[in-house]
Amino acid sequence: MGKLLRSLFFSLSIVWIVFFAVCSAIKSPLKDGPAAAPMAARGPIDGNYTYVCDESRFAALGLDMTDFYYCDSSAPYEVRAKDLVDRMTLSEKVMQTGDQASGVERIGLPKYNWWSEALHGVSNFGRCVFFDEVVPGATSFPTVILSAASFNQSLWKTLGQTVSTEARAMYNLGNAGLTFWSPNINVVRDPRWGRILETPGEDPHLVGLYAVNYVRGLQDVVGAENTTDLNSRPLKVSSCCKHFAAYDLDNWKGTDRVHFDARVSVQDMAETFVLPFEMCVKEGDVSSVMCSYNKINGIPSCADSRLLKQTIRGEWDLHGYIVSDCDSVEVMAIDQKWLDGSFSDYAAQALNAGMNLDCGTFNNRSLTEAVKLGKASQADLDHSLRYLYVLLMRLGFFDGIPAFASLGKDDICSAEHIELAREAARQGIVLLKNDNATLPLKSVKNIALVGPHANATDAMIGNYAGIPCYYVSPLDAFSSMGEVRYEKGCADVQCLNETYIFNAMEAAKRADATIIFAGTDLSIEAEALDRVDLLLPGYQTRLINQIADLSTGPVVLVIMSAGGVDISFARDNPKIAAILWAGYPGEQGGNAIADVIFGKYNPGGRLPITWYEADYVDMVPMTSMALRPVESLGYPGRTYRFFNGSTVYPFGYGMSYTNFSYSLSTSHRSTNINLRKLQRCRSMVYINDTFVPDCPAVLVDDLSCKESIEFKVAVKNVGRMDGSEVVVVYSSPPLGIAGTHIKKVVGFERVFVKVGGTEKVKFSLNVCKSLGIVDSTGYALLPSGSHTIKVGGDNTTSVAFPFHVNYIN
Ligand SMILES: *[C@@H]1O[C@H](CO)[C@@H](O)[C@H](O)[C@H]1NC(C)=O
Ligand SMILES: *[C@@H]1O[C@H](CO)[C@@H](O)[C@H](O)[C@H]1NC(C)=O
Ligand SMILES: *[C@@H]1O[C@H](CO)[C@@H](O)[C@H](O)[C@H]1NC(C)=O
Ligand SMILES: *[C@@H]1O[C@H](CO)[C@@H](O)[C@H](O)[C@H]1NC(C)=O
Ligand SMILES: *[C@@H]1O[C@H](CO)[C@@H](O)[C@H](O)[C@H]1NC(C)=O
Ligand SMILES: *[C@@H]1O[C@H](CO)[C@@H](O)[C@H](O)[C@H]1NC(C)=O
Ligand SMILES: *[C@@H]1O[C@H](CO)[C@@H](O)[C@H](O)[C@H]1NC(C)=O
Ligand SMILES: *[C@@H]1O[C@H](CO)[C@@H](O)[C@H](O)[C@H]1NC(C)=O
Ligand SMILES: *[C@@H]1O[C@H](CO)[C@@H](O)[C@H](O)[C@H]1NC(C)=O
Ligand SMILES: *[C@@H]1O[C@H](CO)[C@@H](O)[C@H](O)[C@H]1NC(C)=O
Ligand SMILES: *[C@@H]1O[C@H](CO)[C@@H](O)[C@H](O)[C@H]1NC(C)=O
Repeated sequence: MGKLLRSLFFSLSIVWIVFFAVCSAIKSPLKDGPAAAPMAARGPIDGNYTYVCDESRFAALGLDMTDFYYCDSSAPYEVRAKDLVDRMTLSEKVMQTGDQASGVERIGLPKYNWWSEALHGVSNFGRCVFFDEVVPGATSFPTVILSAASFNQSLWKTLGQTVSTEARAMYNLGNAGLTFWSPNINVVRDPRWGRILETPGEDPHLVGLYAVNYVRGLQDVVGAENTTDLNSRPLKVSSCCKHFAAYDLDNWKGTDRVHFDARVSVQDMAETFVLPFEMCVKEGDVSSVMCSYNKINGIPSCADSRLLKQTIRGEWDLHGYIVSDCDSVEVMAIDQKWLDGSFSDYAAQALNAGMNLDCGTFNNRSLTEAVKLGKASQADLDHSLRYLYVLLMRLGFFDGIPAFASLGKDDICSAEHIELAREAARQGIVLLKNDNATLPLKSVKNIALVGPHANATDAMIGNYAGIPCYYVSPLDAFSSMGEVRYEKGCADVQCLNETYIFNAMEAAKRADATIIFAGTDLSIEAEALDRVDLLLPGYQTRLINQIADLSTGPVVLVIMSAGGVDISFARDNPKIAAILWAGYPGEQGGNAIADVIFGKYNPGGRLPITWYEADYVDMVPMTSMALRPVESLGYPGRTYRFFNGSTVYPFGYGMSYTNFSYSLSTSHRSTNINLRKLQRCRSMVYINDTFVPDCPAVLVDDLSCKESIEFKVAVKNVGRMDGSEVVVVYSSPPLGIAGTHIKKVVGFERVFVKVGGTEKVKFSLNVCKSLGIVDSTGYALLPSGSHTIKVGGDNTTSVAFPFHVNYIN
């Protein structure tokens, strides 16, 4: 079973086998005749019902529902959940602590499979989503790294809402569960990481906002977002922020995620690794968090009560459950051998640490003994199970939610959803180069479409995908617009030899314009597969250069990848007029790219990660977790916040077919904070004594943090085409503070501006959140002095102003 997690390819095949074994009961086909169930003809519960507390269901089981208080919908969820758990024997309880919960037929509790996935569309990667003749596919949106590049919060929420509509419809039809273990919100620390495609990139604040929006889109029931008792707030589906925490190494040069001990400073932990999870729980009110495989400073995260019980459950007040990554308790016992104990010690440790559900079967085998031997208490087990049942009640598993009862087949792969997949990809696509305004392409008679991604289909949906409604590959999209000559140029993305290059050159020679589709795919960067270099694979670079050399018409390079690739050769080659990055753009990827290339859509996406130069990987091993430069070892910093070297393209980079200009209006540029008796000044480390102010900083926890920085930016479209501009706001701390970030994102907004028009964007930034720093002991401090607020990245008309924080005793 542990092997399931070590190799993606292996795990995919096992998942299928397990799925047929486990979910076949749910698949029971419709039967004709009077015996057919009275409620739904097809449903997730026993194959016939859409919710548990259906009187006829109990009758069919030979039970009287009124005997079961847990089905009394007028009682509070907590009381009902207690009633349900109290009816179970110890071994029945234990059988509900794994993702394949057995149910307890004698008390009317059906089996439930907890593992469904919906990272960018409903996915059959988990154990309980499946596609069949009734639901042959679901809308496959762009991979997260591309949607993140839109920097558009309302898009992220709309994506969540749309995915949950399809998910709930699939639940009604018996094709999915209600608990989806998405999104993946680990911050991209290193450009080699194989799972970058699943994530929103390298900035913790942006990752956190992605999480909040996607989670709210998935979970919120419109009109019930503000239910005061958050433990009874109804949910459309349940979402899960994963993998907690400091998890971003899969398999690099012999180090794999289950054996890796991430040595993390308290500073990086608070400032980078934990921040998005805190936002996900506190602002997104997510109903689940998944703990990760890796150890953090020697302790497996699923065994760490300070992380789970104290932080997530205690400080952040999670309303929901904590689940292990699949088999991670088994991994603790077998691979990590972390405690020198028996299996029951590990099961007890995880329960005691605050883990509520085991993805796998380890608990099922070991927890009964742990309780019998007194290593874990039955009261804690009961408590833990109640979190699970309260959550299922909020989801309508027991009582149904009438508003969702009518969702069905027509709500999956609808024209509107497919259009959103196309729109999301367009919004994310980043224009990296456009010499002489070559793009958008004017009318061209014949186009050469070359390169290993020119006819991409599955590569466009990445991993944690389902079966898409249908694909529109680049070849499909361009063929519908004119005469196209297609040559793949390489056998596949790995491009191990030059066999196909000549044909591609022939095609390009005779074309009015050539579009080269290059990049990576899951054979290069994936779960369980980190990269060792940042180059285009195999002979792709040669393919691109040779085509550029001989082409007479314009050459456009389209990169499909998640991680950055060092394409400085193409950036600097004057014969390559334009470059686009298209992530892995989802089932409508071909249409979205064509929309951009022909100017039906003006691109506005921005890179959500730094594209480092190739030698970066020689400067720092992937196993070094530090974000800051490590002077003693010569390691450079990581991400735009701490890396000051040259890049292929910086974080936040992205051009448009039009030009924008910014102007700023601010109401105030300083704040005076009067300190009371208990608000003490804190010292900080400065690079040089001349910088040290009287009162260097105050602990954020000691401040009310009510002050804000308010300003408006007027964004004018001074070019010749309507377009969207992403306005990014950064803050930089006062000069002289040692070891702090260069700058950090504190806000952003995507706006659409018509030619000649102006849109005003208002920002209201919390002083503590936007100007605070985390010191080396992990405390958040608000430094005094002159901070800098800069609006716009390196390639836009940026505007900046100082903002002073003064402490007055
Ligand atoms: C559900 O329906 C199937 C036939 O479709 C039937 O065999 C089965 O007994 C039903 N189960 C219950 C609990 O009613
Ligand atoms: C919920 O509260 C938020 C923030 O106060 C508000 O914007 C939103 O309109 C409220 N929603 C409902 C349905 O009342
Ligand atoms: C859990 O254990 C019981 C026996 O104790 C077994 O019948 C059941 O199949 C197990 N469940 C899983 C998911 O392995
Ligand atoms: C494009 O890809 C699809 C799906 O893999 C395949 O069926 C089709 O034959 C390919 N087209 C060409 C021209 O190779
Ligand atoms: C080129 O690579 C392809 C697949 O990668 C392989 O099938 C083919 O035999 C190789 N050709 C040569 C000449 O090595
Ligand atoms: C762009 O225009 C300049 C001057 O008109 C020309 O020298 C150059 O070749 C052009 N570049 C491309 C990629 O067309
Ligand atoms: C860039 O960072 C390195 C540490 O990685 C430091 O030694 C160097 O002085 C910095 N350069 C500049 C220009 O700030
Ligand atoms: C401290 O910084 C100031 C201003 O940048 C500079 O003039 C001075 O030489 C520095 N002193 C030392 C000891 O580095
Ligand atoms: C945008 O501005 C640049 C210089 O700042 C100029 O070269 C270019 O022509 C402008 N593009 C448009 C579409 O106005
Ligand atoms: C942001 O996304 C939403 C939802 O797709 C869309 O309606 C809106 O136009 C987008 N905003 C911009 C500026 O592109
Ligand atoms: C910024 O964009 C312009 C085109 O608008 C381009 O000429 C310039 O090289 C870019 N600057 C950087 C730093 O990449």
